[in-house]
Amino acid sequence: MNLILLGPPGAGKGTQAKRLQAAYGIAQISTGDMLRAEVASGSAIGREAKAIMESGALVPDAMITAMLAARIEAPDCARGFILDGFPRTLAQAEALDRMLAEKGRRLDHVIELRVDDAALVERISGRFTCAACGEGYHDSFKRPKVEGVCDVCGGTEFVRRADDRAETVAARLEAYHRQTAPLLPYYRAQGRLVSVDGMAAMDEVTRQIEAALAR
Ligand code: AP5
Repeated sequence: MNLILLGPPGAGKGTQAKRLQAAYGIAQISTGDMLRAEVASGSAIGREAKAIMESGALVPDAMITAMLAARIEAPDCARGFILDGFPRTLAQAEALDRMLAEKGRRLDHVIELRVDDAALVERISGRFTCAACGEGYHDSFKRPKVEGVCDVCGGTEFVRRADDRAETVAARLEAYHRQTAPLLPYYRAQGRLVSVDGMAAMDEVTRQIEAALAR
């Protein structure tokens, strides 16, 4: 099964993708995580991407499409994948269609997570992750069970993303509405789009996605 989770920054794509990865045994592909790994490694791609990401803009289509093409060839994608953060422009969506057609694969579902802009700002500004294992938390919605200790690995260091500052969040939302929202009619016209209520509690969002995937 190959699917796309589509939605604005902070909509819950990463949260839900991790749950679906565990439930269906398919790969989660987060282009944001891939780019952050490039930045952390100091590679040429990372050096080019860093300032763009910190401004809230999208990195060039050619850069991200080449990364994605290589990633979906990896063995863990053989059973399928969840795209979390890709495609984000019409050019990327068209490139993905071509890529899959060349490999004799197809896109099974496109799930839109719908969330109000005001809620997104609250979600993003409260988000933090375990520095050791990457488990995600939130100041209001999901605190560690024991304060200061990761539920999953017991780590005690937590980090916040450089692009989660309020002014950058506004630029990321603007990029979403201008460059990514046009993908909704694109996938609706292909008959692949299902929208779920991303404002609901996390478990309810998961339930709605699983119901859509079972159709
Ligand atoms: P990326 O890393 O993809 O960030 P994003 O799309 O802005 O999405 P986020 O990771 O911020 O949010 P999310 O939807 O995963 O929400 P989450 O589950 O964490 O991209 C970063 C940058 O990389 C881009 O700005 C761009 O520069 C570049 N980039 C990446 N891909 C690119 C591409 N294809 N082309 C060009 N550039 C690209 O949830 C958020 C918070 O809310 C968490 O704290 C969570 O606990 C909480 N939460 C989740 N669900 C709920 C719920 N139902 N109720 C209450 N709280 C919830």
